[in-house]
Amino acid sequence: MTIYSKIIGTGRYLPEKILTNKDLEKIVDTNDQWIQERTGIKQRHIAADGQYTSDLAYNASIKALEAADIQASDLDMIIVGTTTPDLIFPSTACLLQSKLGCPGIGAFDVNAACSGFIYALSVADKYIKSGSHKRILVVGAETLTRIVNWEDRTTAVLFGDGAGAVVLEASKEQGILSTHIHANGDHADLLTTNKGPSRGMDDSQTGPIAIMMKGNAVFKVAVKTLGSIVDETLEHNNLEKSDIDWLVPHQANLRIITATARKLKMDMNQVIVTVDQTGNTSAASVPMALDYGIRSGKIKKGQTVLLEAFGGGFTWGSALLKL
Ligand code: UT7
Repeated sequence: MTIYSKIIGTGRYLPEKILTNKDLEKIVDTNDQWIQERTGIKQRHIAADGQYTSDLAYNASIKALEAADIQASDLDMIIVGTTTPDLIFPSTACLLQSKLGCPGIGAFDVNAACSGFIYALSVADKYIKSGSHKRILVVGAETLTRIVNWEDRTTAVLFGDGAGAVVLEASKEQGILSTHIHANGDHADLLTTNKGPSRGMDDSQTGPIAIMMKGNAVFKVAVKTLGSIVDETLEHNNLEKSDIDWLVPHQANLRIITATARKLKMDMNQVIVTVDQTGNTSAASVPMALDYGIRSGKIKKGQTVLLEAFGGGFTWGSALLKL
């Protein structure tokens, strides 16, 4: 008998503080019109002082557990996709586990930048399909604005903070149909940070830690690569484009989302878009968009949903699921 991983609950959390494009005009040489036209972003949320990635993850996880109608003690693993952990170690998953109060179960982070949630989901799916685990909490959580250079207009306008979570449960009913993950480290320099623990953290050399991106080059690779992952996912499942009810894409840029929808011949009213409200929240973006799609009543039980993401590494991936 085939065991599927079924999503039985989702949740999302966005910090209270909102930074609008107009607010950004006072910080850096930019304007609302440019940001909206080039990215689709209107605002982003910013974590409060003293509020960390594990706190955002906790708030999203509580909502996902409530929706699944289970307790944290019912979980048997926690996986967090993040590229902005509270600390280098312990992992954000361990800090989250302590906050949730479920010691003993395996807990670890996955760093695949913006594809972090898809990667984490693919790992969780394999554990459940193997029969060794029954209920896994999978989270994407980020405080990206902590590593933004507010003087660099090419990146400062793009990113936001947030967290999304799903509870996966072993089921006889169809759930995740397939996951696909890829990477190409040859393009590491196009989307990266200026420093890290091993290369040296000395601020006097390179300034504070910051995201660096050659946006236009990344844009071109993202559009092409997301097109091919969509083809790969459909072919693997022997499905047609018209079999997909909803596209839940990584929310980096509305123009990239629109290009992927066009490739799938999908109308934009079959695509979940949250980038206008959240900016690019990296690993948090797909689970937050999925939760929004479900809670808003757009995505319904039994529908076929395609999740996809592309990010630093480069990394990219997809998951096809029946809700
Ligand atoms: O999530 C992980 C993956 N990341 C992505 O997928 C991001 C991919 N890249 C993008 O989304 C887009 O490339 C950006 C939104 C980052 C940039 O849009 P673009 O259309 O590629 O713009 P560009 O970098 O080619 O810059 C066009 C112009 C430049 O001015 P000149 O040289 O034409 O005079 C920039 O200096 O826009 C200027 N510019 C800005 N102007 C106002 C760049 N940033 C800004 C800004 N405000 N914030």
